[in-house]
Amino acid sequence: MTIPYPTIQPTPAIAAVTPPSGAPRPRVTFLGTGYLGATYAICYAELGYEVLGFDVDADKIAKLNAGQVPIHEPGLDELLRRNLAAGRLRFSTDIAETADFGDVHFICVGTPQRADGMGADLSYVEASVTSLAQHLTRKALIVGKSTVPVGTAEWVEQLVDKHTPDGLNVEVAWSPEFLQEGFAVDDVLRPNRIVVGVKSEWANGMLYAAHKGVFDLAATEDREVPLVVTDFSTAELVKVAANAFLATKISFINAMAEVCEASGGDVTQLARAIGYDPRIGNRFLQAGLGFGGACLPKDIRAFQARAQELGAGEALRFLHEVDLINLRRRTRVLQLAADLLGRRSGPAGPDFAGTRIAVLGATFKPNTDDVRDAPALAVAALLQKAGADVHVYDPQGTENARRAVPELTYEASMNEAVTDADLVCVLTEWADFRNADPVALGEFVKGRKVVDGRNCLDPALWTQAGWEYRGMGRP
Ligand code: UGA
Repeated sequence: MTIPYPTIQPTPAIAAVTPPSGAPRPRVTFLGTGYLGATYAICYAELGYEVLGFDVDADKIAKLNAGQVPIHEPGLDELLRRNLAAGRLRFSTDIAETADFGDVHFICVGTPQRADGMGADLSYVEASVTSLAQHLTRKALIVGKSTVPVGTAEWVEQLVDKHTPDGLNVEVAWSPEFLQEGFAVDDVLRPNRIVVGVKSEWANGMLYAAHKGVFDLAATEDREVPLVVTDFSTAELVKVAANAFLATKISFINAMAEVCEASGGDVTQLARAIGYDPRIGNRFLQAGLGFGGACLPKDIRAFQARAQELGAGEALRFLHEVDLINLRRRTRVLQLAADLLGRRSGPAGPDFAGTRIAVLGATFKPNTDDVRDAPALAVAALLQKAGADVHVYDPQGTENARRAVPELTYEASMNEAVTDADLVCVLTEWADFRNADPVALGEFVKGRKVVDGRNCLDPALWTQAGWEYRGMGRP
């Protein structure tokens, strides 16, 4: 007989608390209206909360107040317009107004990699918490959502104590977020768990009230959202541990791709076969160009840096390997391109002078316009640096890509990008590329040669249409 493990933590008895503003539900603010904060602000208004989004970027705030989402995130535009019209949602650059409005203030600012090392840059957290604290006039709860090194919540507590007027008794909590770009709306409205790090019953009750809309929606859909109530350090660690695990899973399958390349195996079949084991699972087992974005790469580096500071560096040494495996995938695309174009590699890598290469995809994954640490754009830049004339097309990321890497040529359509190309590299698995007709595309190119950097094309179909095909970790 097997004894089932409990999957849902019993929700602790949480005392009802009255929001300091006197409103029936806590009024919530989100500081930082990037991919995280804008999505949260809009979705929380959709859940029925009164919401104010704050940012120091006046342009972004003006756009949001005018009903324009400054990022590409499926489903968000409609929710923004609906909730602005309902009067539950507004955006401001005024920190005093923000401090005055909220009972619960969520810190959603970026924590990028430091310019001088692997650690996280906490300057935006410091600036937002300090200015908020200085303007508070009554009790409130400040909740960190940004991904941070363990120990940050305690430091934020000290900042708050130092900068709030005496006697307000403002409290701090930590509640990491797990949203994935491209699925962000659903991830906020229907999270697979909520984690809160709290120190007092009041903070616990307040955070419960601030999440009640999520629990209520789940109840109407006959679902349950597990709630994990824990301490500050664990809450902070949950987030980086989750991202480290996901990054490791991707690098594991990419390491298998390297072994397949050396031995003649096919990593896509290998992944399918091991993924049927429910202990392994088939998600995040897609071999290809590896992980990018504003989270996984910098989070595994910041995690290592913090562990080192804490004297636990040994424990996370494997993450260095995870990072290296990931970066090697970019070089692999260059090798495949050189192989297809008959270019020999010298000590500085292959020379692509005189070739025209189409790069399809610039974003770090499909269904976003985000090009931060995007493997596709990095490879496009490497190809250009090696002498190729690179023409890039991306369905949503062109504007951001042009700003990040202006020296590439950006095209308005897939057909224009591949025109006269000696080689086509598919580096982000947008549906447009996955479903492209190789026969029709073949009419535009000079050479029917394709590198499938995301293993998202059907090799049989492309080969039948006369293309020389190379995938990642496939024979
Ligand atoms: C990631 C996590 O998945 C979220 O849970 C987390 O909340 C978020 O970071 C964050 O820290 O804010 P995200 O960066 O949106 O979300 O992107 P993912 O969907 O995780 O993809 C990351 C990268 O891994 C992409 O470049 C993607 O192409 C790549 N990937 C993903 C693979 O190469 N193979 C896979 O099987 C899956």
